[in-house]
Amino acid sequence: MTSFTPRVFSGIQPTNHLQLGNYLGAVKRFVAMQNDGMETIYCIVDQHAITASFQNPADLRHATRELASAYLACGLDPAKSVLFNQSQVPAHSQLAWVFNCVARMGWMNRMTQFKDKAGKNAEKASLGLYAYPALMAADILLYHATHVPVGEDQKQHVELTRDIAAKFNHDYGVDFFPETQPIIEGAATRVMSLRDGTKKMSKSDPSDASRINLTDDADTIAKKIRKAKTDPEPLPETVGGLADRPEARNLVNIYAALAEITAADVIAQHGGSQFGSFKPALADLAVDKLAPISTEMARLMGDVTEIDRVLSQGAERAAAMAEPIIAQTYDIVGFVR
Ligand code: TYM
Repeated sequence: MTSFTPRVFSGIQPTNHLQLGNYLGAVKRFVAMQNDGMETIYCIVDQHAITASFQNPADLRHATRELASAYLACGLDPAKSVLFNQSQVPAHSQLAWVFNCVARMGWMNRMTQFKDKAGKNAEKASLGLYAYPALMAADILLYHATHVPVGEDQKQHVELTRDIAAKFNHDYGVDFFPETQPIIEGAATRVMSLRDGTKKMSKSDPSDASRINLTDDADTIAKKIRKAKTDPEPLPETVGGLADRPEARNLVNIYAALAEITAADVIAQHGGSQFGSFKPALADLAVDKLAPISTEMARLMGDVTEIDRVLSQGAERAAAMAEPIIAQTYDIVGFVR
């Protein structure tokens, strides 16, 4: 087996505003891996963003720049990480086509996110939404990435990426693409809705009160936490006591992830408290950690030219890394060039 140099890749779709789940499950982890000194590549996957529904072009441009500003405001540093938007590096689409021909219909049919997003109306879903996981595999494997930090909902897609790499390597008799590891770590790998502890927090939930957006100001953040759904019991004395209490568990996990401690530490500090006192503590913590991000994002969005410059420089670096890999892939496949 070839040993691949450790390399981190991940991406986020520029659709709507970034929410707390994206921050705790993904961006905060991206920053930690960058600061651990790993080679890190973080993408704004604008080609994925048009798969689910029609995106108004002005909104897509705005969301792309806003996500770039969030990356920077959260601590990603273009001198340390490669930061860019996917559509500026055409090799993503080139490799995705090859992977469309490696992935099997049966594999794609098992993708739960497609089923969730397409709903009952799969006949009307775009072909892009169905093929989306093959593009995601291309994003990752185009850089021979070995580690992919994501929230729990993306685990199946990273596993599919491994299947695609293994089948490609097997079919062509090569050892070319690595077996990528999903990195799903921390207390908040699945942040739930503030209105329903059994539903994932999501950018696309029609209820704005269900999530905290990274663009929310301090008052809005505090208000949403105060109004979050809970049960009538006080917090339990042990973590085990959270098992059948999805809303309580969610707030404890959010607290733990924001404070960078474990859920057990939160229970050690707040076990037995009523929500009447725990929620204000959580609101203070959330405002303390998140409000500076939204302020910095607003500042960065004041200079869109600078954001575009960061993205295009990042894209040049990404393209330089991707080019030899797409060229070798084409040679392996037998495309004459
Ligand atoms: P996306 O844009 O839906 O979400 C971006 C990241 O945020 C995580 N996430 C959450 N984590 C915890 N709790 C939540 N409620 C929550 N909601 C979202 C997601 O797991 C993800 O890590 N297909 C991907 C984008 C993508 C990608 C890639 C990721 C495209 N190519 C290559 C990694 C590598 C997506 O739609 O994520």
